[in-house]
Amino acid sequence: MNTANTTPRLTVTNLSTSFPTEDGLIRSVADVSFAIQPGKTTALVGESGSGKSVTSLTLMRLLPKTANAQVSGSASFVTREGKTLDLLQIGEREMRSLRGNQLSMIFQEPMTSLNPV
Ligand SMILES: Nc1ncnc2c1ncn2[C@@H]1O[C@H](COP(=O)(O)OP(=O)(O)O)[C@@H](O)[C@H]1O
Ligand SMILES: [Mg+2]
Repeated sequence: MNTANTTPRLTVTNLSTSFPTEDGLIRSVADVSFAIQPGKTTALVGESGSGKSVTSLTLMRLLPKTANAQVSGSASFVTREGKTLDLLQIGEREMRSLRGNQLSMIFQEPMTSLNPV
């Protein structure tokens, strides 16, 4: 048994994402915690509107700037090089070096999302 293989690649702790709207603050992701183990497939399941996409977009730091999202919690990610980074704290430059390389998101419209271009 290799202990390195049981260290989660991603540990999300108390993640919350809220959006200020005309009707007040909408808490789309409320205190979510989970871990993703290396070599495993992890599914986030929930009804439409329960916050699955916002969770992913928050972790990828791809929420539109105009949404003025308020994010709290932590997302500890272990890179392929073994470095531990908090996805919610690192600079945009470092985030950009991970996106599409160590972390990626396939968006919902398969005909456009899976376009080889
Ligand atoms: N930019 C935004 N401003 C306000 N509310 C938003 C924004 N983006 C998403 N939401 C709301 O967050 C909630 C969760 O949405 P979403 O993560 O897309 O759900 P799911 O992917 O689970 O179907 C929904 O109520 C949605 O309307
Ligand atoms: Mg969705």
